[in-house]
Amino acid sequence: MEKRGWKMVTNDLSMLFFGLQDASLMAENMVIAAESFGMGSCFLGAAPYIADKIARKYKLPPRVFPLVQLVMGYPAENPPPRPRYPISFTLFEDKYPEMTDDEINKAMRQMDEGYLAQGYYRKGKVKIPLEGEREETFTYDNYSWTEHISRKWGQWYESPTELLTQLDSRGFKVKLAENDKSRAAE
Ligand SMILES: Cc1cc2nc3c(=O)[nH]c(=O)nc-3n(C[C@H](O)[C@H](O)[C@H](O)COP(=O)(O)O)c2cc1C
Repeated sequence: MEKRGWKMVTNDLSMLFFGLQDASLMAENMVIAAESFGMGSCFLGAAPYIADKIARKYKLPPRVFPLVQLVMGYPAENPPPRPRYPISFTLFEDKYPEMTDDEINKAMRQMDEGYLAQGYYRKGKVKIPLEGEREETFTYDNYSWTEHISRKWGQWYESPTELLTQLDSRGFKVKLAENDKSRAAE
């Protein structure tokens, strides 16, 4: 743009969203390509929270933000596919359906029973500890996907500060300015 005599006016949050779209597609294509060569891979989602560390290690220039890490290799094991929600629960045509409590319970049960049958959490010993007042009543006999996910998003990352600080340190300005707030309230 500089060579063409242009200045960037697009705000950083918009650029970040477009970047997210591009990078996600790229990352998934890498997984699929690797798979076609017989390689396995795993995304690591904590990258944004350790952006500063990753930037130092890989000498990232300013305004390059690590969205996700992707490890690849030739697998030493051949684990079964992870359990899935029923397809009717995740794939919709034209609009999101209204779901009954019964349908939701059934889908949750399918997921939980699938993970329990594989012994997934027991094998990995990855029960997320309870941080608050709740009393632990789960054992690896009944701790499964829906409880695991609830413990993540019911306990982690309450404040956006950590992430905003990482973005700021990589040169992205995404905080709402005071005058933006009052403008939005009008
Ligand atoms: C954005 C994203 C972040 C992820 N982060 C992690 C992670 O930090 N650690 C991990 O073990 N798996 C992580 N996963 C990997 C998922 O567990 C993986 O996608 C899941 O096992 C799907 O594999 P499957 O298609 O074989 O079910 C992540 C996946 C995605 C899409």
